[in-house]
Amino acid sequence: MLMQPINSNNALSALHCLYVGGTGSGKTTAVKLLPTTKATDQILFWDPHEDYSGKFKGRIVRRYKSFTKFFKAAIAGRKTQSGFKIALTVPETRENFLRFCEIVKALGDGKHKKQLHAVCEEVPQVTESLGKEKGAYGWLLAVGRKFGIVVHSVGQRVVEMSKTTLSQSIYKWVGMQASIKDAMRMAEECDIPLKDIKALKKLEYFYKSPGIGNVEFGKLRV
Ligand SMILES: Nc1ncnc2c1ncn2[C@@H]1O[C@H](COP(=O)(O)OP(=O)(O)OP(=O)(O)O)[C@@H](O)[C@H]1O
Ligand SMILES: [Mg+2]
Repeated sequence: MLMQPINSNNALSALHCLYVGGTGSGKTTAVKLLPTTKATDQILFWDPHEDYSGKFKGRIVRRYKSFTKFFKAAIAGRKTQSGFKIALTVPETRENFLRFCEIVKALGDGKHKKQLHAVCEEVPQVTESLGKEKGAYGWLLAVGRKFGIVVHSVGQRVVEMSKTTLSQSIYKWVGMQASIKDAMRMAEECDIPLKDIKALKKLEYFYKSPGIGNVEFGKLRV
């Protein structure tokens, strides 16, 4: 059995973030450019398509194609107070994704000086229910905050995402949507006028923070 997370700390806030937009809308670019993570953060990437190769916020991304090596590197990183960027590239299956999430869970520590960020690319490919999220991914979203875990869920279509992903990700990046159904759903979720979401172009976005009407517009500069 894997290690278990330690030091449950109810004082920690939920900071999970969702990035939704059609292909090429700018989700991955948003993860790279927005201050939702910092250069000095400890970050693990579920990255089956190597979207985070090279540097992330100026820091080298170390990539592993085996769970064992990835886990060892992540444990070693968590034993320090320094930032790290470690990506896992394995076949994009639900089983592998849940294994990645188990590793993130195992490294949770509510008393650690550094939060543990988990960037999860294209979650609809590896999740199966629109309802309650099961398994370690659901745990990260629902309970992870108490152990200092911050989940960044990325996906092209909100209509293919689970309720848990939507409700637990209290920060939302809304890019150009793939369909009217997705646009309507994000309009309702974020209380943004539908016509404004429909008007979004590539790299333009709304960013929704907790609280009513807490929405800002922006454009990513690549
Ligand atoms: N370094 C760059 N220079 C110029 N254009 C870029 C650069 N990086 C990304 N882009 C452009 O920015 C847009 C957004 O790309 P990005 O990869 O962030 O989209 P995405 O929403 O993650 O798409 P997907 O769902 O296919 O992964 C794309 O149209 C891409 O062509
Ligand atoms: Mg992308």
